[in-house]
Amino acid sequence: MRVDVVTIFPDYLQPLGLSLVGKAVRDGLVELHVHDLRGWTHDRHRTVDDTPVGGGAGMVMRPDVWGQALDDLLTDTTHILLPSPAGRVLDQGFVQSLAAEEHLVIACGRYEGIDARVAEHYSTCARLTEVSLGDYVVNGGEVAALVLVEAVARLLPGVVGNPQSLVEESHVDGLLEYPVYTRPPLWRGLAVPAVLTCGHHAQIARWRRDEALRRTAARRPDLLARLDDAAFDDADRQVLDAVIGPS
Ligand code: ADE
Repeated sequence: MRVDVVTIFPDYLQPLGLSLVGKAVRDGLVELHVHDLRGWTHDRHRTVDDTPVGGGAGMVMRPDVWGQALDDLLTDTTHILLPSPAGRVLDQGFVQSLAAEEHLVIACGRYEGIDARVAEHYSTCARLTEVSLGDYVVNGGEVAALVLVEAVARLLPGVVGNPQSLVEESHVDGLLEYPVYTRPPLWRGLAVPAVLTCGHHAQIARWRRDEALRRTAARRPDLLARLDDAAFDDADRQVLDAVIGPS
């Protein structure tokens, strides 16, 4: 997969050189290019913004500069991601679909955002999705670009050493993950649940499933409500009936 990130703060993306994503880039599993948007300006001050038409606070990023950048980077397979608090909220399902893409261009806005005609124009001639990290505001798209690249890259074949760890984690089957433990068996008076040391794989799997269901019901009932009936077996139902009552 190729990923191009366009930003006025290229240094913000430096953490992508670390850890698993950094290794994936060095191993050639992800081709990552970070570009300075100011490279597409032509004036002495390398201006990327202007005042909002109609008045108001702050500055808006200019469509002509973004247009030149995106025209240069677009191919037939590009999916443009435009971080914005007004976008679709990122979730694991969308991350999984992005992991199947050939080419992502992440356009990081700053200030009050990018002139709305950029999203309007590229929605007609390319695939473009405005993506939100959640219902809060950060100062620009760079932090969303970090999240997107990390979340997508770890799903690419060969990036995470043991692919099984991608199967048993929060949000993959629509549930939160069960709690995990390591040694020592007793820490500050708190014991590891006995079932995990019994060596009986089916019992451990059932206990983990039950805990995932209980945790999800307690912390994120909205996730449970989104799952189809077919997602639950009889044992699941018993657990859910005990914590939230029969549906
Ligand atoms: N830019 C500012 N706030 C944002 C958010 N919540 N998600 C994505 N990009 C943003």
